[in-house]
This record gives sequence, structure tokens and C-alpha cells, in this order.
Amino acid sequence: MSKARVSAGLLVLLVLPLLSVLLFAAGDAEQGKAAFMKRCKMCHGADGQGNPAMARMLKVEFKPMDSDYVQKKPDSEIKEIVTSGKGKMVAVRGVSGDELENIIAYIRTLKSAE
Ligand code: HEC
Repeated sequence: MSKARVSAGLLVLLVLPLLSVLLFAAGDAEQGKAAFMKRCKMCHGADGQGNPAMARMLKVEFKPMDSDYVQKKPDSEIKEIVTSGKGKMVAVRGVSGDELENIIAYIRTLKSAE
């Protein structure tokens, strides 16, 4: 094995764990998806477009999760909406910490869907 290949291999070994730490620090979108299905889907729909039956019942128009309107909100504001509620949305009880980070990470993946 050449010296160049050995150091390239070393570099990958060093960089990969660093990358995964960075990615996971921001919340796990896979787990966030599962949490969204459990906590948010009944109102916001599986794809974040809103559950039409719930919209009629609550007399609201859900803002799509992939819309600029939602995506331009900083994480902190979305967290606040979930934990404190906003307008006709009542606070979702018992969501915090990692689960909330993961839900945010999932919502951020919806952005690229359009
Ligand atoms: C019981 C139904 C319900 C559940 C469950 C629910 N929401 Fe909502 N959500 C609403 C309603 C109703 C609105 C619209 C509020 C309004 O326009 O006054 C809303 C609005 C929002 C908004 C936009 C707020 C704004 O600034 O207009 C975000 C973001 C949001 N919800 C995120 C979530 C997330 C994330 C979850 C899951 C953790 C969740 N919601 C669970 C009913 C719900």
C-alpha cells in the first residue's frame, strides 16, 4: 500500500466520526419522522400539508410544513409553537429535548421536497 493511500485512509477515519457527530447534533430526521407521525400527523398530515378533516373541524388553514412561511422560522420559534402553542394550535404535551430536536430535523427535510 502506498503512503498516499494510507494517509487518505487515515483522513477518512478521522473525518467520518466528526461528520456524524455534526449531523446527529442537529437532531435525527429519521426518528423525527416517527415522532412527527405520532405527535403532529393527526393535524398536520403525514406529509405536513395538513389534515383536511381536521382543518374543517378547527376552521383553520394549515400552513404546509414545506412552505417558506414555516421553513423561514428559526428552530427556536418552531419549538416554542410546539411547547407553548400558537393561535388555534394548543401546545403538544410531553414533547421536549431530543424528540423535539428530531422533529425539527424532520421538518427541515420537507423543505427540499419542493
Ligand atoms: C391538535 C392539532 C395539532 C397538533 C397535534 C399539532 N398542531 Fe401545529 N398547528 C395546529 C393548528 C390548528 C395550527 C394553526 C394555528 C393558527 O393558524 O392559529 C398549527 C400551526 C402550526 C405551525 C405554524 C404556526 C404559525 O406560526 O402559524 C407550526 C410550525 C406547527 N403547527 C407545528 C407543529 C408540530 C411540529 C407539531 C407536532 C409536534 C404540531 N404542530 C402538532 C394544530 C396542531
